[in-house]
Amino acid sequence: ENIPVICVDGPTASGKGTLSAEVAEQLGYHLLDSGVLYRLVGLAAEQAGLSTAEPDLKDPAHARRLGELAAGLRVRFEGQKTLFEGRDVTDDLRTESAGMAASRVSSVAEVRQALLGLQHAFRQLPGLVADGRDMGTVIFPDARMKVFLTASAEQRAVRRHKQLISKGIAANIDGLLADLKARDLRDISRTHAPLKAAEDALQLDNSGMDIEQSVQQVLDWWQGRT
Ligand code: C5P
Repeated sequence: ENIPVICVDGPTASGKGTLSAEVAEQLGYHLLDSGVLYRLVGLAAEQAGLSTAEPDLKDPAHARRLGELAAGLRVRFEGQKTLFEGRDVTDDLRTESAGMAASRVSSVAEVRQALLGLQHAFRQLPGLVADGRDMGTVIFPDARMKVFLTASAEQRAVRRHKQLISKGIAANIDGLLADLKARDLRDISRTHAPLKAAEDALQLDNSGMDIEQSVQQVLDWWQGRT
């Protein structure tokens, strides 16, 4: 396919979401926030009374049920809003607990497989910015540009803290740092589509940068390729 894709992969709270949205906006491209899909599976599992506890995920019959759930997700995206079975779940999906549930169900191969088609469907003209963990390695290996975004764990915890506080959600930095490290470890060490930079990815450590600088760097790289 010739439809251009820019992949932005990296660990949790690295600023991928903001960066991807801004780059997509500036280029007039579509945006895929693939984390939302895993968060939705976590939420749907909870609503269906299906466990997302780690020991249960190892049971093949349970993994299959989660895969079926993911394949049948009734989801709609309206601008910035996510509608699940007709209900606006945008805010529910952003909580830390939704992130943790997403991280657990995302280790299930059947779930990842079920979400493939949905993700590919986002590749539409004039182009796509895809944000996730395996965009460049698994979902869009032929993407025209791949960025791997990192920042120190401490920086990421501080940013996440600010984000939550600004939304009026109480949070504690040490707790966030511990959660974030647990999530990183799970994402990096899982067997299926682990978090890692694609061989042809451009590495961007944005620890000392603000969002405008990171966006500018990515746009500069993009200009060099088109
Ligand atoms: O990016 P976000 O924090 O919304 O992702 C939530 C979780 O979903 C991540 O911790 C990761 O385990 C999983 N995920 C994934 N593959 C993606 C995007 C997210 O496994 N492409």
